[in-house]
Amino acid sequence: MSETKKKDVLIVGQGGREHALAWLLKRQGGVNRLMAAPGNAGIASIAECFDVKPTDIDGQVALAGKEKPDLVLVAPDDPLALGLVDRLQAAGIRAFGPTAAAARIESNKAFAKRLMWEAGVPTAAFKAFSDPEKACDYVSSVSHRVVVKASGLAAGKGAIVTSSRDEAQEAVWEIMVKRTFGDAGNEVVIEEFMEGEEASLFAICDGRNYRLFVSAQDHKPVFDGDRGPNTGGMGAYAPAPVVTDEVRQQACERIIEPTLKALAAEGCPYHGILYVGLMITREGPKVVEMNSRWGDPETQVVVPLLRSDMMELMEAAIDGKLDTVSVDEDEGATVVVMLASGGYPGDYTKGFRISGVEKAAEQEGVILFHSGTAWKDGSLVTNGGRVLGVTAVADDIRTAVGRAYRAVDHIHFDGMHYRKDIAHRAIARLASSTLK
Ligand code: AMP
Ligand code: GLY
Repeated sequence: MSETKKKDVLIVGQGGREHALAWLLKRQGGVNRLMAAPGNAGIASIAECFDVKPTDIDGQVALAGKEKPDLVLVAPDDPLALGLVDRLQAAGIRAFGPTAAAARIESNKAFAKRLMWEAGVPTAAFKAFSDPEKACDYVSSVSHRVVVKASGLAAGKGAIVTSSRDEAQEAVWEIMVKRTFGDAGNEVVIEEFMEGEEASLFAICDGRNYRLFVSAQDHKPVFDGDRGPNTGGMGAYAPAPVVTDEVRQQACERIIEPTLKALAAEGCPYHGILYVGLMITREGPKVVEMNSRWGDPETQVVVPLLRSDMMELMEAAIDGKLDTVSVDEDEGATVVVMLASGGYPGDYTKGFRISGVEKAAEQEGVILFHSGTAWKDGSLVTNGGRVLGVTAVADDIRTAVGRAYRAVDHIHFDGMHYRKDIAHRAIARLASSTLK
């Protein structure tokens, strides 16, 4: 790419996903000035960081007005739901991401479920309630297992999978009466429990056209063997073999295309990344959730395989021209192991010194994406629940897993914990296919 075409870009956000996107843009060379607000210690090594919170919408608009980036990439869910893209566009600044109305696909689960249901998109049967008594009566009346979800944004923790009527009633109480997730629990969505294996698909969308990226699989529960409470994601890998070509095609035809059409018909055409959380059931793929952004930590495993120019893809998505570009990717496999603070996803302490990062980053195929880190008195310290995403790329998933865990062995901080079984499903699948 020639010097004159290079763009100034501002990334809004501060996690591992944003570090991975910053790394990608830097590596692809299409960016002149790379900025982040607020960023983290890892992002600061490749971008200028500004201390503005993602949810400080006025502050973000003022920053963009002052620094004049050619494009603002709004990565997290909260500023999208709060209308940062709308505000930037109104100020004449190009922004990548859905408007607040389109971002309701994530920020308002009741809206998303109704839209999908009316469009015939396969997803769990559901009912929405804003009265806790009615919600409790409903869960007492059904015989199937249910999942109780806060309708609003709850940092990925607002879904409670229940196995009995008592548990379901308790979940309604937790969300609507105890208000564990605040206003996000003004309304609950109660869904039928779906059996199957989960996977994440990401589509870049221009309102009408879309392009898919490689599939990935997240690991939400905190402990090995998928036990314990849900987290924001303890690790991921790509590609996910459960997403066969047939599943991909079904997801396109039955899920993504009707959803994009329905959003356009609602008057909110979807521009940006559409995250499709799938359950691969015996009847085919069904939607667990849709999000209005890249996943974290899935982004950390998807972008290292991307060969196409991300700037070009984002520009095409904004301008409604995705039909003129393609998503090309490498054949290999990627894994990310998330190193978390002691106590996460519950309470945890920040500020512990992190050692061994340089040694880990020197290992073959390894990239470190910082999630919650900061510099303090010249040392790298923990600054969040999820701290570092140790990512490895290789020709195959087994090698990638070996590389990631060997790199993890070099890193230490007080209370550090991580899952030791990331990619276990892909590896089990490989083992069973070689036995046959
Ligand atoms: P969500 O916040 O909607 O992504 O839900 C968090 C997690 O809860 C998902 O990743 C699933 O593991 C589980 N879950 C959510 N909805 C369902 C469902 N209808 N059936 C089975 N599991 C679900
Ligand atoms: N990895 C789950 C999410 O980003 O919502």
